[in-house]
Amino acid sequence: MKPVRRGVIPAAGWGTRFLPVTKAIPKEMLPVVDRPMVQYAVEEAAQAGIQHLTIVTSRVKESLAAHFDRAPELERFLEAHRETPALKGVRRLATLADLAYVTQQEQLGLGHAVLTARNSVGNEPFAVLLPDDIVASDTPAIGQLLQVYHQYGGSVVAVEEIPPEASRSYGVVDVEPVAEGLYRVKGLVEKPKPEEAPSRLGVVGRYVFTPGIFEALAEVRPGALGEIQLTDGMHLLAQREPMYAWVLQGKRYDVGTPLGLLKASVELALQREDLAPALRQWLKGLAL
Ligand code: G1P
Repeated sequence: MKPVRRGVIPAAGWGTRFLPVTKAIPKEMLPVVDRPMVQYAVEEAAQAGIQHLTIVTSRVKESLAAHFDRAPELERFLEAHRETPALKGVRRLATLADLAYVTQQEQLGLGHAVLTARNSVGNEPFAVLLPDDIVASDTPAIGQLLQVYHQYGGSVVAVEEIPPEASRSYGVVDVEPVAEGLYRVKGLVEKPKPEEAPSRLGVVGRYVFTPGIFEALAEVRPGALGEIQLTDGMHLLAQREPMYAWVLQGKRYDVGTPLGLLKASVELALQREDLAPALRQWLKGLAL
């Protein structure tokens, strides 16, 4: 089985749920505590040993590259002012991973964004991390999927249990059980009505794919809005090759909406020694 050395981070959407802030700032650059959301995805991949990452961007997303590039002038300034922790933090960004950028010329959906990374990934298995899902866990979420991939082979998708009415916000898997927390995927449906959902397991934005996903995505016909859904490509792939669903161990934050971003910011700040005491006190004072 080929090792998974590459990852793809789709970051080319319009961020419509966050307008107006996302008119000029990419959604992936919105801060969760003091890091942009995309940095969580890059760090998670790096922790799991995935060093080569392709970020799929749109034309207006230069700030993403600027965030991870060296910044000699800023570094000199911080050095001169003896801002050592800040300097370390800034320098570290350029060492996290080997990053490449590809431009999605038209916003034609998540499946199309993944397909845009095809040449950059090549004929290899690879990981996909959606930056608007942040997972706090002992083993990095994508590392959990890699363990399944190494044991069982085939593609792997992360899932979590969702209440029935939430199905409209998720890809939902049709599955049969394999082991504790592990299922074989028979099919997937994107954002079904609760009565049409094939299970209570919703897809979280972490995936390991065999290169077969590219052929499948190339065959998917665009939906009503002209978008190529990743879920449709996965459905096709699951008919051709083994695919597994792994129930993530850890806490998942959906930072893809303003409310989700606020909740994640508060909860993740409460886990930080430097912020938690003052934040906790302030929250108590709100006495809602
Ligand atoms: C995307 C996928 C969906 C998945 C979700 C996880 O939807 O299309 O299948 O469940 O990410 O966050 P989005 O949240 O981009 O609408």
